[in-house]
Amino acid sequence: MTGSSKHMHYSKWKCPSNIALVKYWGKRDFQKPMNPSLSFVLQNAFTETSIEIHKDNNQKVEFYFDGAISVFGERIEKYLSQISMQLPWVNKYNFRIHSKNSFPHSAGIASSASSFGALALCLTELDFVISGKEIYSTEFWQKASELARMGSGSACRSIYAGFSIWGKTHLFESGSDDHAIPLSEGVHPIFNGLNDAILMVDSGTKEVSSSVGHQLMAEHIFQQSRIAQAHQNLNELYLALLTGNQKKFVEIVENEALSLHAMMMTSNPSFLLLKPNSLELINRIRRFREKSKIPVCFTIDAGPNIHLLYFQENELDVKAFIERDLLDFCEKGKWVDDRIGKGPEKLGR
Ligand code: DP6
Repeated sequence: MTGSSKHMHYSKWKCPSNIALVKYWGKRDFQKPMNPSLSFVLQNAFTETSIEIHKDNNQKVEFYFDGAISVFGERIEKYLSQISMQLPWVNKYNFRIHSKNSFPHSAGIASSASSFGALALCLTELDFVISGKEIYSTEFWQKASELARMGSGSACRSIYAGFSIWGKTHLFESGSDDHAIPLSEGVHPIFNGLNDAILMVDSGTKEVSSSVGHQLMAEHIFQQSRIAQAHQNLNELYLALLTGNQKKFVEIVENEALSLHAMMMTSNPSFLLLKPNSLELINRIRRFREKSKIPVCFTIDAGPNIHLLYFQENELDVKAFIERDLLDFCEKGKWVDDRIGKGPEKLGR
């Protein structure tokens, strides 16, 4: 039930994190991507957020994380003022927000995607209820994706089940820099069983924030070639997803992960985020693939942790490989067992 008194409305959503296969790296204007990206949502890594809007006191935002008041409230206040052009009612209400993650902060999983995804879904529901519109329409999901993007770019891809694409592309007329679009139709069923084993190399704080990282592309000597490469990789990966071409999938996904790091290594200033153990894991994953002929591959975000991707039919072999050959190179032997997910969910009180 959304809303219990004249001046009070309530909304609660659960939203997953996502992992990019074609990477968003570099932005222009306000939170628009330099190149299109493609990702899938996770199943076990998610944020649950509730928003109560009221007119009871003077404090604009009360933000509780895991039940305790949190400084992140200031970031949310700034975000709310940034989106108030889109949602004018935001200026008239006070916000009580509760949020929690299913994963520890130290797990190295991007929490900005699931956090802003959940927040944007709540805000979109409140907006639709206030203006008397039906939720769960195409317009609803697009609006949620757009609002999520304005908080954190990658968050716009957390709004749909399975795979999403964000950014203009020749592949779809509906492709947009404003919001992501879902890629449910036509994807080969082999990808319904995509698994992601997150191998924790270092759970410490990030050496470079993604907003600083994106800025490095503004003056990057390889900017134009990177944009061209992302378009080409997106086209080829999309074809691989449609046809179930695992070999091509593996090739493109690893090329994207290493290109992202190549961009960071060759920017000014330069960042080298991979650790010796990241490299050891990469080499071991490649050797296992060659020897076993099992289609495993890795992807990496802007950090040292390695996401080992594999298919459901190979689960037993790959889990045995992780336990036997990879855990020595993970911090305290830690890894997170995740997989492609079903997307956000509206929750009750
Ligand atoms: C390397 O979405 O975290 O994970 O828009 O500044 O919040 P902001 O950046 P963010 O960047 C994510 C970068 C990436 C690649 C990706 O997810 O596509």
